[in-house]
Amino acid sequence: MTYVTDSLTVRDNRTGQEYDVPITDGTIRAGDIGQIKVADDEPGLAVYDPGFLNTASCRSAITFIDGDKGILEYRGYPIEQLAENSTFLEVAYLLVHGSLPTKDEYDQWVHNITYHTFVHENVKSFMEGFRYDAHPMGMLMASVGALSTFYPESRNISAADNRAIQVIRMIAKMPTLGAFSFRHAQGKPYVYPDNELSYAANFLSMLFKMSEMKYEPDERLVKALDTLFILHADHEQNASTNAVRAVGSTQVDPYSAVSAGIGALFGPLHGGANEAVLRMLRRIGNVSEIPAFIEGVKNGNEKLMGFGHRVYKNYDPRARIIKKAADDVFDVTGVNPLLAVALELEKIALNDEYFVKRRLYPNVDFYSGLIYEALQFPPEFFTVLFAIGRTPGWLAQWLELVQDKEQKIARPKQIYTGDRTLDFTPAEERWA
Ligand SMILES: CC(C)(COP(=O)(O)OP(=O)(O)OC[C@H]1O[C@@H](n2cnc3c(N)ncnc32)[C@H](O)[C@@H]1OP(=O)(O)O)[C@@H](O)C(=O)NCCC(=O)NCCS
Repeated sequence: MTYVTDSLTVRDNRTGQEYDVPITDGTIRAGDIGQIKVADDEPGLAVYDPGFLNTASCRSAITFIDGDKGILEYRGYPIEQLAENSTFLEVAYLLVHGSLPTKDEYDQWVHNITYHTFVHENVKSFMEGFRYDAHPMGMLMASVGALSTFYPESRNISAADNRAIQVIRMIAKMPTLGAFSFRHAQGKPYVYPDNELSYAANFLSMLFKMSEMKYEPDERLVKALDTLFILHADHEQNASTNAVRAVGSTQVDPYSAVSAGIGALFGPLHGGANEAVLRMLRRIGNVSEIPAFIEGVKNGNEKLMGFGHRVYKNYDPRARIIKKAADDVFDVTGVNPLLAVALELEKIALNDEYFVKRRLYPNVDFYSGLIYEALQFPPEFFTVLFAIGRTPGWLAQWLELVQDKEQKIARPKQIYTGDRTLDFTPAEERWA
């Protein structure tokens, strides 16, 4: 029994009536507001919240964010410690299972994911059917959705063992599908997974292997990519996770739900910001052009891309870690000349009153584009990398959703603004 210690008293000035609404965990239930009515046969009061700016859609024990303090934790562990000392597959286990694995659990998990990286040959054939210039995110979204037809048993979402195998399959196959979409754009043959390599190393092999017997990526690049995947693994109820949950709430299979998440991530307001940062840096081109650019930003002509965040009003903790990963990557690839522009922009912005007053700090996208470019990824591929990293998060959220007894099919209300009770005249009379 939960004892309600806090409540909200609402007075409806239309009727003069007062209502007590319980407050639990800093929230009131929209359903409790629904009891507020002008008359019994009138609809109850509803809340209007486009974009869910102030609406909680679930209770979740996966990711904690305190944007004011710049804190991000997965299952209670700070992102800094995970990025420094863990691996992407261990973090994926943590997100999906809720606690860190024992040695045996970890070995089994890595084994399972490694041995599910191959896709059915028919998946490969239909991916080959895309146009030569198909966007890799479109290919990824379609091929993940298509996996539901290869694993029809995935529709049985109430069986825990069935859910578990689909989660393994999806985390395992996402890099394979992403790499196929990359090779497709380049007109190169698709490369099969190499089960002797780690998750990130195998991905690099599927992207870049040519005629050599074995592709051996530089360990520093493998580590940097693994770190980037960790940083993107979850971010609580962001737009793509919300899409996964909304579609998943219909009890559809997880491939269809995650494919909806990939669709949401494809949008420029969500996954496309690092590409915009890169374009901005290219346009500025030189440190000497920065003062004029900053003046333009302050005059409201444009935004400093990669700065500011809806949630973080302090340094995005992921941006700090990415900066370090960038140094490691540039050690191998040579410094991206745009790095000097980025560093100088950051220095100026962090000391400029305009940005300080508005609490605008670098976000995760400010440096990630530079790293991806140094790794020779074309900008349209950046979001695919994001999707691969985010997959365990989507799946952890989906698992939480389907086991949450409070969840229902996601079906918002609307405020109807159209016409009512018009008389329909048949077309032949209207057009006569
Ligand atoms: C991320 C973002 C959409 C957050 O937006 P938000 O929380 O709604 O913040 P607001 O748009 O209300 O911004 C508050 C103020 O800061 C300004 N501002 C926000 N981001 C800015 C930026 N990147 N450059 C310059 N000014 C910015 C706004 O113009 C506004 O100024 P005002 O109060 O004078 O009108 C926004 O900061 C942005 O567009 N950043 C650049 C794109 C980006 O990097 N996106 C990736 C996010 S991970």
